[in-house]
Amino acid sequence: MELDVEFVGVTKSFGDFVAVDNISFSVAKGSFFSLLGPSGCGKSTTLRMTSGFEHPDSGQLRIAGQEMAGVAPYRRPTNMVFQRWALFPHMTAAENVAFGLEVERTPRREMRERVAQALALVGLSEFSHRKPGQLSGGQMQRVALARALVKRPKVLLLDEPLGALDLKLRTQMQLELKRIQREVGTTFIYVTHDQGEAMTMSDHIAVMNKGRIEQIDTPQTIYDRPATRFVAGFIGNANIAPLEIESVAGREAKVRSGGLSFVISDVDGATPGKGHMALRYERIRLGAAAAQAPLRFKADVRDVIFAGSVVQYVLALADGPLELLAEQSHEGGGALLSRGDRVDVGWEPNAPRLFAGG
Ligand SMILES: Nc1ncnc2c1ncn2[C@@H]1O[C@H](COP(=O)(O)OP(=O)(O)OP(=O)(O)O)[C@@H](O)[C@H]1O
Ligand SMILES: [Mg+2]
Repeated sequence: MELDVEFVGVTKSFGDFVAVDNISFSVAKGSFFSLLGPSGCGKSTTLRMTSGFEHPDSGQLRIAGQEMAGVAPYRRPTNMVFQRWALFPHMTAAENVAFGLEVERTPRREMRERVAQALALVGLSEFSHRKPGQLSGGQMQRVALARALVKRPKVLLLDEPLGALDLKLRTQMQLELKRIQREVGTTFIYVTHDQGEAMTMSDHIAVMNKGRIEQIDTPQTIYDRPATRFVAGFIGNANIAPLEIESVAGREAKVRSGGLSFVISDVDGATPGKGHMALRYERIRLGAAAAQAPLRFKADVRDVIFAGSVVQYVLALADGPLELLAEQSHEGGGALLSRGDRVDVGWEPNAPRLFAGG
């Protein structure tokens, strides 16, 4: 596998504050890689080190096999797209896209062709003569994207480029971005705090928290097998509940929460003592569906939240202190449970993920 970007043990502090703490990752050439995490976790700092606008205190950073220490931003094979697209207001879309090529003194004819290609790629051929004031937010962001792609960087760095768009447009642009990335085959490193966005587009996601990387995997593995409690809570909807780990045998653990005892399977490296489980809302089965589940409990429905395609229930388990949220698809349009109902609840032993620690 050819690697385009490699971070090896990179650390960056601002004064006493460690913004990026000994991170290592590599991005395969031609892939869509996302840095995902909450505000302040060090995503932009990581991206800015890639582009050369910040410098690591220690560790190594290679792009296309070349060590980047001492290489100025404009000499790196990278280009950046920002959240605020900063187009020149007095220039047309085509002129904005051409700007970087003019600076490089690209021959006229080649420039015209490349600008036309880039505008076609982002679906704006018909808008090439419009100025930013005559374009919508989504169209302006496409111009910004075309302006970055026209320079044919090896690696395109995108820092929350859809953050300023409304939800519908953002969803549409996510699919567009993925299509464009596939079409041009450029390596994308995409920064976002929006897990849905990262899941939709990425080949691999690095989940960051407090300057560290907690997990790097495909979207599906991150969702199904979160490596840490933080990842389980940050991606998707999971009940995170404290419990006692009583014993561990191989990959199976016996756990207890108040009067409830049950087994969790497919465990990775737990030890007896305090722990937490993460149980996704949709892995909890209710009513008749619970009857076939290997683990079964009784619960009282405390609340019903109807959200259209899904219904959420707040459940208090009868024999322990656990309160769990369960989510059911409403595809059949059937009757809902009501507050106060007593209901059967069940799940597979491998549905919860178990994490050691209080
Ligand atoms: N130039 C700087 N001087 C001092 N502190 C900084 C500087 N740049 C970033 N930081 C701090 O480093 C931490 C990481 O910042 P960074 O911009 O990388 O976060 P982020 O993950 O991109 O967050 P957001 O999602 O809010 O953009 C933050 O706590 C920030 O305040
Ligand atoms: Mg940021």
